[in-house]
Amino acid sequence: MVNAMTRVLVFDSGVGGLSVLDAIAASGHALSLDYAADNAWLPYGLKSDADLRARVPALLRSLTEQWAPQAIVVACNTASTIALDAVRAAVSIPVVGVVPPIKPAAALTKTGVIGLLATPATVRRAYTDDLIAQFAAGKRVVRFGSAALVEAAERKLRGEADDGAAVREAITGLFGAPGGAEIDVVALACTHFPLLAQELAAAAPHPVQWLDSGAAIARRLAQVTGAATGQARLRRAGFTDADAARALFPAFAVRGFSTFARIGASAPFEAEPVIGEASA
Ligand code: DGL
Repeated sequence: MVNAMTRVLVFDSGVGGLSVLDAIAASGHALSLDYAADNAWLPYGLKSDADLRARVPALLRSLTEQWAPQAIVVACNTASTIALDAVRAAVSIPVVGVVPPIKPAAALTKTGVIGLLATPATVRRAYTDDLIAQFAAGKRVVRFGSAALVEAAERKLRGEADDGAAVREAITGLFGAPGGAEIDVVALACTHFPLLAQELAAAAPHPVQWLDSGAAIARRLAQVTGAATGQARLRRAGFTDADAARALFPAFAVRGFSTFARIGASAPFEAEPVIGEASA
């Protein structure tokens, strides 16, 4: 499929998908990007698998009917690792999900010890176990799950001060665990965490390589859509908690989003056209 401006919907529980959106925008493809954040339900990492498998496909089906994207990026590991098949069954357009970057981490590690930072849900998922068994057999994977880091990334993008406690807790939890001193590669398996890359690197007890999935998703999306080379155009960002999202508008406007929409917090998830416009 070759299309001058394929319309893509990038989805996450909150601002984490912006780390993926940044990689897509940097990849140099003529894509028209909308964004939806289910911030009324954040954090996904503390929700049950059954609740996520019910909500995420219903929300994305409804948004697909209203916004008519031609492809969806589920830019959320917590949703992708439990609900990707259900999302694919709910819509009739290509869906690209995020996979925790275990495979590249296993290829890079020299010590044989990989750190895995994700949400509490993703670290305990069978999907994650399978990925480790398939791609990191013979490696040691030290896991740490943090919902506090998700909130810290949200605060950062709202421009709020942060005391660094969530970053310190995650670093201590990872590098202080058995085997943690030998970690040389950390897989960031939550899309919120690359937004705290500098803070995490500064707090780490020794230098390591930090891996995320953004560039791989951008490559996969370009393949799936057959997008032409060009510049991405950012259009509309929608939020299921529009009031809480107002403080986030600047983080979206600075990336080029022009229009902000309210999405109903429960089915039928009706999107009102506009709750704000970028002033710049
Ligand atoms: N950004 C999401 C992820 O990649 C999860 C954040 C949340 O817990 O809501 O896992």
